[in-house]
Amino acid sequence: MAVERTISIIKPDAVAKNVIGAIYSRFEQAGLQIVAAKMLHLSREQAEGFYAVHRERGFFNDLVGFMISGPVMVQVLEGEDAILKNREIMGATNPKDAAPGTIRADFAVSIDENAVHGSDSPETAAQEIAYFFQPNELCPRTR
Ligand code: TYD
Repeated sequence: MAVERTISIIKPDAVAKNVIGAIYSRFEQAGLQIVAAKMLHLSREQAEGFYAVHRERGFFNDLVGFMISGPVMVQVLEGEDAILKNREIMGATNPKDAAPGTIRADFAVSIDENAVHGSDSPETAAQEIAYFFQPNELCPRTR
């Protein structure tokens, strides 16, 4: 296992439910450290750019509309196997399929409003971190 970094986004539905802290606890309990974080209300252009890979999908416009419907909390998580670990903590894309105890099982109601985003590979993690953060905004632990 290697120390990795990944992007996590707490989406507008979960921010509106006031569960940022509850979700942060899950990351910390899993041994992931938050090494950068910012709250943003994404513009349409930012959301479309972030999800550009889905541009041709039927759900794209609704997804973008949802992602700009309120503020999001964006963070970089660091730790052993962080990309897969975060995906496990999140649970399946459709909360109906998400394992009990996962973020999506506990906080999401539908596939289109599913509480969190997490990078799905080292390549997308690097792209997504660069999409939201300058290198000097990352604060790895020194103690
Ligand atoms: P995807 O990358 O497949 O899932 P994940 O977020 O688990 O990596 O899809 C990106 C987002 O698009 C997903 O979190 C919610 C939305 N989406 C829909 O609204 N409807 C769908 O049928 C799918 C597959 C995704």
